[in-house]
Amino acid sequence: MQKLAFLVLTLLSTSLSAADQEMTVYRSPTCTCCGRWIEHVKANGFKVKDIISDDMDAIKEKNGIPEKLASCHTAVVNGYVVEGHVPADDIHKLLSSKSKLAGIAAPGMPLASPGMETPGHTADPYQVISFDKNNQFAVFASH
Ligand code: CU
Ligand code: CU
Repeated sequence: MQKLAFLVLTLLSTSLSAADQEMTVYRSPTCTCCGRWIEHVKANGFKVKDIISDDMDAIKEKNGIPEKLASCHTAVVNGYVVEGHVPADDIHKLLSSKSKLAGIAAPGMPLASPGMETPGHTADPYQVISFDKNNQFAVFASH
């Protein structure tokens, strides 16, 4: 009985932890990898508001995603834009850095990224690129 109470408390405290950061994700109705990425960020401390859109181009333009860095889904978290299959750890790193960056992106559909995991490509290298409001790019993380 005591064990059960302890388990419930542990579950409660993890789900209410300060790390649970709200995130809005925009995705197209036809995209399945987006749903898998959402599961990934949910499992890593984000609370997701899932918004289906038929006009992702407009969403990307509105959020200032550089064309070169575009991917499938677009997320907004704490004023930052996160484009595509960016690992949750990189988003946590961005949030805690409090940098002046506009956002980070995993351009295209890297086959080893969260939500894309493709047999035979699980170790394929890819980069997460940061961008600011003047479209200055830099490598944010290499995977
Ligand atoms: Cu995708
Ligand atoms: Cu997606």
